Amino acid sequence: MAFNMKSTSAGMLALSAMHLIPSVLAAESSFNKQSGAEVCSSDTPLSCSSSTIEPSCCFNSPGGSFLQTQFWDYDPSTGPTDSWTIHGLWPDNCDGTYEEFCDSSREYSNITAIIEESGNTELLTYMNKYWKDYSGDDESFWEHEWNKHGTCINTIEPSCYTDYKSQEEVVDYLQKTVDLFKTLDTYQALAAADITPSESATYTLDEIHSALSDIHDGFAPYVACDGDNLNEVWYFYYVRGNLITGEFDPAEKLTQSNCPETGIKYLPKSG
Ligand SMILES: *[C@@H]1O[C@H](CO)[C@@H](O)[C@H](O)[C@H]1NC(C)=O
Repeated sequence: MAFNMKSTSAGMLALSAMHLIPSVLAAESSFNKQSGAEVCSSDTPLSCSSSTIEPSCCFNSPGGSFLQTQFWDYDPSTGPTDSWTIHGLWPDNCDGTYEEFCDSSREYSNITAIIEESGNTELLTYMNKYWKDYSGDDESFWEHEWNKHGTCINTIEPSCYTDYKSQEEVVDYLQKTVDLFKTLDTYQALAAADITPSESATYTLDEIHSALSDIHDGFAPYVACDGDNLNEVWYFYYVRGNLITGEFDPAEKLTQSNCPETGIKYLPKSG
């Protein structure tokens, strides 16, 4: 009886070991995509919900308002003609002001190499297509975004990681920016409201706000114009918990548009 039980459990062990092999391999091949960032309890307060809570790996502060920002680069044009492109992910203080270049020891001039070393080729491919610099130097643009904004996010400091690997937080930050961008298809949201690129058509600010609030839980993002021409959008969020493992809640914009109320043009990308 005891022998049988033993052999059964040994057999089960062997079976589960066999099952384990493929999943171990799978885990290893995607190992670099798994974040070691702090996992916080789900009742962690939302960023900006209180000015008395101390900054921690589970509470973004003082930069508790996060902006996923995008460009419509029509001249010179960048990126696909039927998509906006990524500007960045910025931590703002809860009042529209912000800190910048917060940690010179974590400023990098080798973002491409950092992503390559992480093994996340999918991220790099996506960035090469959608995270474009208008003057053609994507690497410098990514460096600027990380060095200026990424270094100011307190919840992705190395001390917030288990088994921290050098520059891990840089890849996490870029991936989070891309992941948010993928949920915010500005081009499609405008097109769904018949707001499409045109040399001659004009749109009102209300029409644009309304179309974009449809993909942001009813909150209109900040939209910016160059003269009369629509060229940028900022979607505001608060975060519950850690930037990488936490939850993003769409939020009211903290900045008013500089576009005119009427007569806004949405020019086609010139190619
Ligand atoms: C990137 O640059 C940093 C700082 O100079 C260096 O420590 C790191 O090894 C570099 N990473 C790669 C993948 O070259």
